Amino acid sequence: MKAIICTRYGPPDVLQIREIENPAPRENEVRIKIHASAVTASDLYIRGSQVPFRVLIPFRLMMGITKPRRPVIGLVLAGEIESAGKNINRFKPGDRIYGLTGFSLGAYAEFKCMKETDSKQGCLSMMPENLSFEEATVAAYGGLLAFQFMEKGNIQPGQKVLIYGASGTTGTIAIQFAKFLGAKVTAVCSSENLELAKSLGADEMIDYTRVDHSEPGVNYDFILDAVGKNKTSGFKKEIKNSLTPEGKYVSIDDEPLLLDSARLEKIRVLVEAGHIKPVVDRCYQFEEIVKAHRYVEKGHKKGGVAIKVL
Ligand SMILES: NC(=O)c1ccc[n+]([C@@H]2O[C@H](COP(=O)([O-])OP(=O)(O)OC[C@H]3O[C@@H](n4cnc5c(N)ncnc54)[C@H](OP(=O)(O)O)[C@@H]3O)[C@@H](O)[C@H]2O)c1
Repeated sequence: MKAIICTRYGPPDVLQIREIENPAPRENEVRIKIHASAVTASDLYIRGSQVPFRVLIPFRLMMGITKPRRPVIGLVLAGEIESAGKNINRFKPGDRIYGLTGFSLGAYAEFKCMKETDSKQGCLSMMPENLSFEEATVAAYGGLLAFQFMEKGNIQPGQKVLIYGASGTTGTIAIQFAKFLGAKVTAVCSSENLELAKSLGADEMIDYTRVDHSEPGVNYDFILDAVGKNKTSGFKKEIKNSLTPEGKYVSIDDEPLLLDSARLEKIRVLVEAGHIKPVVDRCYQFEEIVKAHRYVEKGHKKGGVAIKVL
């Protein structure tokens, strides 16, 4: 099968397409025919070993010293069950699934074997019927991040919610999830993305590149930092002062992303009901992986970037 190999830690051109052996499923595994993958922040961290200096040694010990121990990287997949081992209960051949591969990586390939149960090696669920495979990759990654961290807010109808970094993979889903929960949503993004945030249902938009301070008198019940601790601005530094006394501030970097198929199920239900529509910024061909990584590395994707595998 065709796969994208990370030949060493480094810039996007360390990624190369190679022919490798097709994996054979064990009795407790499915073999997935991957139709789409994605280029996420997590893929960039792994490819470039772009982790903070304090965690560089543990990262390299865990992932590989000079290159990833698992050469086929890729965290997100959407595809079809091609075959199922005899101990598989949740899936059958032909099922359209989406999920994350966790520490087992391997989504940048035509096929991948995975267990049907959740573990650090990944999680899988039936994908929303009304999505393309490319859209499903955005729903899986952005959805898992947005839902995990927004569930911490116990958001109630009518509450004021601010999404910081509303134009990214997580932010675009977070706006829609907050609206589904009945919140009044303020989306923070750059001027170029204000219309996108509005089209996703935001009630108010703030351009973080033009405003340094949060509005006096506006108090939020819940603030989600949807872009993580490395991306900041004068506005972001101020917004913690705009919480109600019981308000909560949560960053998507506060704890590890959980690989949770029950949450994928919940995302599927809301997507199929039309409450959430994933935003695909660009879709690249498998052969364009270097170009796709270069684009995502610029840090300004709107929604997610998908890779067409077949
Ligand atoms: N907890 C975990 O285990 C875990 C796992 C995976 C990822 N993460 C976190 O999730 C982050 C990636 O999330 P994502 O893929 O959803 O985001 P993303 O799609 O990479 O975010 C891109 C968006 O960020 C916006 N942006 C860039 N700089 C900004 C700034 N200073 N202030 C506000 N917005 C800014 C850009 O909009 P403009 O072009 O308008 O600036 C762009 O639309 C990672 O960087 C990591 O921190 C955490």
